[in-house]
Amino acid sequence: MTAPQDQLNELLAQSKATSFLDSTFATYMDDRDPLKALRSEFVIPTRGEIAPGIDHPDESCIYFCGNSLGLLPKAVARYVKEEIQVWGEGAVNSHFKHRFGRPWVRIEETVQEQSARVVGAKKDEVAIMNTLTSNLHTLFAAFYTPTATRHKVLIEAKAFPSDHYAIESQIRWHHLDPKDSLICQEPREGEFLLRTEDILETIEKHGHEIAVVCFSGIQFYTGQYFEMEKITKAAQAKGCIVGWDLAHAAGNVPVQLHDWNVDFACWCSYKYLNSGPGGIAGIFVHERHANDFDRNRLAGWWGHDKATRFDMVNEFKPMSGAAGFQHSNPSVLTTSALLGSLSVFEQTSMQEMRAKSFLLTGYLHHLLVTEFSKDVLDIITPTDPEQRGCQLSLIFKRGKMMEIFEGLEARAIIGDERKPDVIRIAPTPLYTRFEDVRKFVVELKDLVAKIYN
Ligand SMILES: Cc1ncc(COP(=O)(O)O)c(C=O)c1O
Repeated sequence: MTAPQDQLNELLAQSKATSFLDSTFATYMDDRDPLKALRSEFVIPTRGEIAPGIDHPDESCIYFCGNSLGLLPKAVARYVKEEIQVWGEGAVNSHFKHRFGRPWVRIEETVQEQSARVVGAKKDEVAIMNTLTSNLHTLFAAFYTPTATRHKVLIEAKAFPSDHYAIESQIRWHHLDPKDSLICQEPREGEFLLRTEDILETIEKHGHEIAVVCFSGIQFYTGQYFEMEKITKAAQAKGCIVGWDLAHAAGNVPVQLHDWNVDFACWCSYKYLNSGPGGIAGIFVHERHANDFDRNRLAGWWGHDKATRFDMVNEFKPMSGAAGFQHSNPSVLTTSALLGSLSVFEQTSMQEMRAKSFLLTGYLHHLLVTEFSKDVLDIITPTDPEQRGCQLSLIFKRGKMMEIFEGLEARAIIGDERKPDVIRIAPTPLYTRFEDVRKFVVELKDLVAKIYN
């Protein structure tokens, strides 16, 4: 893809705007945005709802927090309401007879194919089940099989704490000590990002004793999009299993789990996939493991062969593919919420979203580096657009982050803060306008002038 800055320069000339901060430019970009219609598919909180007493209370707030909780797609209400109706009318019979054609006994299949498209997988490589940390445990139970000589797990030093806890507990589960069996990849002194070359060096040096390499696709704090294909290939060449936590990547960047030969992956659906708080999560198991029935797995009746599931026999016969890793009958309400949110993704593609995201986050990046001095704010997310998704993580200097954060919220601009000094800003392409980014920068300039004076 052409570098966003080159595209933006060309578009600035076409727009006839005087500068990138000129509203003519943002309007020009929004008018030609191929995804612009999708914004109306979402419920966007108003300024008044976010900051009571603010002027223009009925206008939309500026929402940059899809990296934490995506906005509510209007379709979700419809799908959930239908399930409540069916529950009321049919009760238990709705497992098999469903007026909208979604019998609950197969409800997870309604979201399987669309989820697979989002993560670049084949349908049978994906199962929609549980929640993220539970799925990480499920996958580790199957894929982490330490031996005396190959017992280590390689993760990021600053992995999301839940992943760190889960993986440490998996190591202990095998009566091993994380002090000996966990390798945490640290950034270099004074740096925030992990250099691919350093990760590859660790793999080269320790690969023979590493059982599993498990990183996040996109780092939650820095927004770094790891070079997934390269890391997967290098680790597998050393005989390691490679898994990815795609919490911040699914629905944000077009990953290709199948083609990149990833062993396993998991993700949640409440961030960029907009399925609602605590939404149902997903797993990927590469098709080459589809019939690997000797692998230990945590069994449950929903992973059992569909043809005999209701025969209630004691002999567990797992289904082929990711479906064979399911445990319980899934939550119908959260699955139907995901179905509603995926109906928006079906109107576009991850490639089209990425093309807009490149420009939108590129625009934000450009404005931040040109309008603010580095002794006020610095961006720790990679400058290279290929190595980030939509999120930029901004460090506010001199202990002023919370003041800035609260000031933004008072102006109905929602990002999120990570103490001590980072605000994460994620202009998600499905519902964010160029004008939102421009207004944010204008408001931030005003706040900075007041707070840093
Ligand atoms: C990278 C990552 N892993 C794990 C989690 C935990 O997710 P859950 O509470 O859904 O298990 C999160 C939550 O934000 C996350 O960002």
